[in-house]
Amino acid sequence: MTMTDDQWLDVQTAVAHDPHDERHEGAVTKPIYQNSLFTFRSYDDFLSAMQNETDRSVYSRGTNPTVRELERRLARIERGEEARCFASGMAAISSAILSVVRSGDHIVCVNEAYGPAKEFMGSYLKKYRIDTTFVEGSSLEQIESAIRDNTTLLYLESPTSMLFQVQDLRAAAQLARSKGIATIIDNTWATPCYQNPLEFGFDLVVHSLTKYVSGHSDALGGAVIGSRERMKALVKNEYMLLGGIMTPATASLMMRGLRTLPLRMEKLHGQGLEVARWLEAHALVSRVNHPGLPSHPQHELAMRQMKGCGSLFSFETELPLDVMRRWAERLKYFRIGVSWGGYESLVTVNPKSSYRPGAQETLVRLYVGLENHGELIADLEQAFDRIAFSS
Ligand SMILES: Cc1ncc(COP(=O)(O)O)c(C=O)c1O
Repeated sequence: MTMTDDQWLDVQTAVAHDPHDERHEGAVTKPIYQNSLFTFRSYDDFLSAMQNETDRSVYSRGTNPTVRELERRLARIERGEEARCFASGMAAISSAILSVVRSGDHIVCVNEAYGPAKEFMGSYLKKYRIDTTFVEGSSLEQIESAIRDNTTLLYLESPTSMLFQVQDLRAAAQLARSKGIATIIDNTWATPCYQNPLEFGFDLVVHSLTKYVSGHSDALGGAVIGSRERMKALVKNEYMLLGGIMTPATASLMMRGLRTLPLRMEKLHGQGLEVARWLEAHALVSRVNHPGLPSHPQHELAMRQMKGCGSLFSFETELPLDVMRRWAERLKYFRIGVSWGGYESLVTVNPKSSYRPGAQETLVRLYVGLENHGELIADLEQAFDRIAFSS
């Protein structure tokens, strides 16, 4: 895990440096093109733009210069040729999946993928006679044995976002390619700073930009990134026809977030691990699920394929759900709420059995934000102390 290699420096420069923009009087940020359409001086020019509506600015559902600038940056740091941005992570995920599957196909998906993505594949797509088999995914054999003759998509998320299980991305991409199966991965947790699945052979990478890229809990968005060839049909069909596009104002917020993404990730990698290590040593914690900890069963694999870690992780405890929900209410800095990736630390408390079938007691998911990690640890400690005191 190194943060000083060429790739890392390239990401920092790519998000921090813009060339002088003569066209916009030297404005240091790309202006927001807050317009729905573009007009032309000549009919010939109009017709030629219409023929190439996905590249030329004709109408903002197709191409808007502010959104396009964000897409160029995302493609570069994710090591892809082409990116498209969407109104949410789910719009990006469903569009990417629809671009690959047809009626009668079969999907293999990790069983701990983001809930609504699973619902889209496992329930919604059934009406198009598309079946999905969910597998744990921590071994290649599980994935391989789920593949059928009509499997056309392998959908992964590594690490998963409740138990933080890791899949062997290079091996999975190779296996899928050898069988002519397309691959999509949700790379939201690691971000393009820490993991670049296209380099392992994945076809498409999806992101919820709502999380770390936005970074300020004030915008929703998603992206799909891949080769020009893979993206061509997706842009023509799912992007243009379903129309779940990102607005120019949101793209500007996302570009602002992107400027500090590498800095925030470096900080969050460190302090997420500090909090995880502290929890691991706590008497009331039975297990911490964080791929950056040597105790994680796939720590070595995780460190081989990622350059660093996100700061969302979970821990398990034998304390009952209701006790841990009262514990969460006593936290001062960790606020109770879904989502993650912003500046603010968050907590959710869940029945462990929802994620480990048959398991008793409680799984707590923590998002470590940008507050001082010493204060975050003190906050967790005072809430644990108050449990001990009240029992
Ligand atoms: C891992 C992951 N992927 C995708 C999504 C969906 O993103 P959005 O909420 O932007 O639609 C989420 C949202 O929580 C997520 O956690």
